[in-house]
Amino acid sequence: MDRDLDAIEKLDLNLLGILETHVHADHITAAYKIRKKTGVLIYYGSESGVDGADVLLKDGDVIQVGQFDIKTIHTPGHTSGCVCYYTCGMLFTGDTLFIGGTGRTDFQGGSAGLLYDNVVKKLFCYPDNTIVYPAHDYSGKALSTIGEEKKWNPNVGVKITKSEFIENEKNKSRSYPKKIDIAVPANMKCGQTSTF
Ligand SMILES: [Fe+2]
Repeated sequence: MDRDLDAIEKLDLNLLGILETHVHADHITAAYKIRKKTGVLIYYGSESGVDGADVLLKDGDVIQVGQFDIKTIHTPGHTSGCVCYYTCGMLFTGDTLFIGGTGRTDFQGGSAGLLYDNVVKKLFCYPDNTIVYPAHDYSGKALSTIGEEKKWNPNVGVKITKSEFIENEKNKSRSYPKKIDIAVPANMKCGQTSTF
């Protein structure tokens, strides 16, 4: 919460809402605490299954912020309730599409086939110069573009077929997320825990 509220203050922004992309498995969202402090609304995808969100967004739903429209795109695959957001030439892709990667598909209702289809059909249809902001990047990069991901993404780029992607996902050995047993129950309540 402090990190995000500090950034908002430094950038002299006015926080209007919290748009979640999915129920995270590796950390607890600060959404609940930030809402408590600021009163802004929490938005989630309608398939996320969370309790306590103020707005549940269906595929294609648009949030109007002044002159801007933010479009909701349902992209199940990393989790069954994942969404991405599009506005003004920018895609916020959560853990669906990373810079040179994709979110894992082996828990939380994940599906390799759905992830591949949603990235290719619902994200790669945006113009090549669309900026991609993923939820995180482990090497410190902040953004990419649809054109770069189509060309270079080793998981879902144009050279990879759906069956190759599914096979690759099956063969990946991934460790159990350390905080999943604490994070998912809290995040199913927008980040509410017994301590706050
Ligand atoms: Fe995730």
